[in-house]
Amino acid sequence: MNKSDEFWWRHGIFYQIYPRSFQDSNADGVGDLVGIIERLPYLQALGVDAIWLSPIFPSPMADFGYDICDYCGVDPLFGTMEAFDVLVNTAHAAGLKIILDLVPNHTSDRHPWFIESRRSRDDPKRDWYIWREAAADGGPPNNWMSEFGGSAWQYDAASRQYYYHAFLAQQPDLNWRNPAVRHAIYDVMRFWLRKGVDGFRVDVIWHLIKDQEFRDNPPNPNFREGQPPHQRILPLHSTDRAEVHGVIAEMRRVIDEFGSRVLIGEIYLPLERLVAYYGRDLAGAHLPFNFALLSAPWNARGIEKIIFEYEQVLPAGAWPNWVLGNHDRPRVASRVGRDQARVAAMLLLTLRGTPTLYYGDEIGMHQVAIAPDQVRDPFEKNVPGIGVGRDGCRTPMQWNATPYAGFSTSTPWLPVADDFVHENVVNLDADSRSILSLYKALIGLRKKLPQLVSGAYVPIAAAGDLLLYRRESDGRAVVVALNLGAEPVSIASDALRAGGEILLSTFLDRQGEKIQGSLDLRGNEGVIIGA
Ligand code: NOJ
Repeated sequence: MNKSDEFWWRHGIFYQIYPRSFQDSNADGVGDLVGIIERLPYLQALGVDAIWLSPIFPSPMADFGYDICDYCGVDPLFGTMEAFDVLVNTAHAAGLKIILDLVPNHTSDRHPWFIESRRSRDDPKRDWYIWREAAADGGPPNNWMSEFGGSAWQYDAASRQYYYHAFLAQQPDLNWRNPAVRHAIYDVMRFWLRKGVDGFRVDVIWHLIKDQEFRDNPPNPNFREGQPPHQRILPLHSTDRAEVHGVIAEMRRVIDEFGSRVLIGEIYLPLERLVAYYGRDLAGAHLPFNFALLSAPWNARGIEKIIFEYEQVLPAGAWPNWVLGNHDRPRVASRVGRDQARVAAMLLLTLRGTPTLYYGDEIGMHQVAIAPDQVRDPFEKNVPGIGVGRDGCRTPMQWNATPYAGFSTSTPWLPVADDFVHENVVNLDADSRSILSLYKALIGLRKKLPQLVSGAYVPIAAAGDLLLYRRESDGRAVVVALNLGAEPVSIASDALRAGGEILLSTFLDRQGEKIQGSLDLRGNEGVIIGA
């Protein structure tokens, strides 16, 4: 990658670190910035280009950092501002970009802005948050629900009004219709951009603007028991409002003041609505996160359809992106199974668009079962027993076979997966056919072959469990053949008539094999074929 390239975020590979769980350097059982610095050589060797850190700012940790009480500081749990500066400098020297999590939709209820705002109805900061009168019966102003259970409105007895919180009551939503709020957050962005960060992943960006009239949300006709309770209603008036695109364009202008930085938006919406977040004339987010693969049933025709639809709806010139895992969703290795996790890796790293890896997926970490007394996630605590808990995908990174997997020397904040003695970086690095070796080979190939980065995506007709496509540019092409099933398949496609050579198999044992006209894939095998 050309490091001075303004389009680095197109060519690069992103890697999400959940700082609490990556590497603890001071034996308190929680990961920290010095720990991340120590592990930069690992990330360099893996071959990723940019690291996104989930929030590191001072926080009461009601939602593990997504409840911020100082936007321009570092929580002592994670270290100091000096350590942050060292991280940025060391990462940059190693050719790695640093992306921060920006959480502009809500603060902590202990943020000085909110403390002031709740002081009285006529406090100058009152309008920085969303305060409403009770309904006629004294209940909440409307039927909007918190994503973490219950009403989204919290009554404040002192001022006899309700405030809105899309998540926990300890996370009051800021009022993004208020220009003073917008400018305060833009100054926060400038603060970090001046420090050299390379961009932001913006938390729940599609939530920022709410309906001006606070109309009730409609019921969800497809709601089924067992789904999280907030899904009983559709968030029609509380999210994805047309006016949000204006504020995102403003954010983008702040990013552009600094040049070569990136704006990534967290958005859970159907693809046709998601792509609106590129903004008019692409003046919105550079990369509205595409989470379609996070919830896609794992079958070839379904995935093929998703890729096709996404490619269809992308605005001209918009750069695609793909995600397989994050700190809110079950681990990919558990969703699709251990064997298919390798096929999923090949899919992620051969699709057109910037890939984002979630820490630990490269070593096949699975969802860890969390005993009731070990639950830390407020979502699981509020809505227990239906499987919404996020702790299982946030367990400590498995570095080696020493106690606590080399993550810490004292009891980690979440349990380490039982299989860490074998499934760890040291062991998997020593195994030339491990999933970690596969990730490295895939990343290496992506860097070597420009058609894997910028080539067109050309679907090839296939049936059953087979997903087949070509990536081609400037007359150079590779064919990707993925078997999403456990049974062997034989491919006799015109696409293979010209012949070629296997560049990589997910089993890492067929490199160099010549292909002419047909190809046999083992169950759970994917291959990349060069012309
Ligand atoms: C999205 C984040 O990814 C999630 O972890 C958090 O709980 C909510 N936003 C609220 O900030």
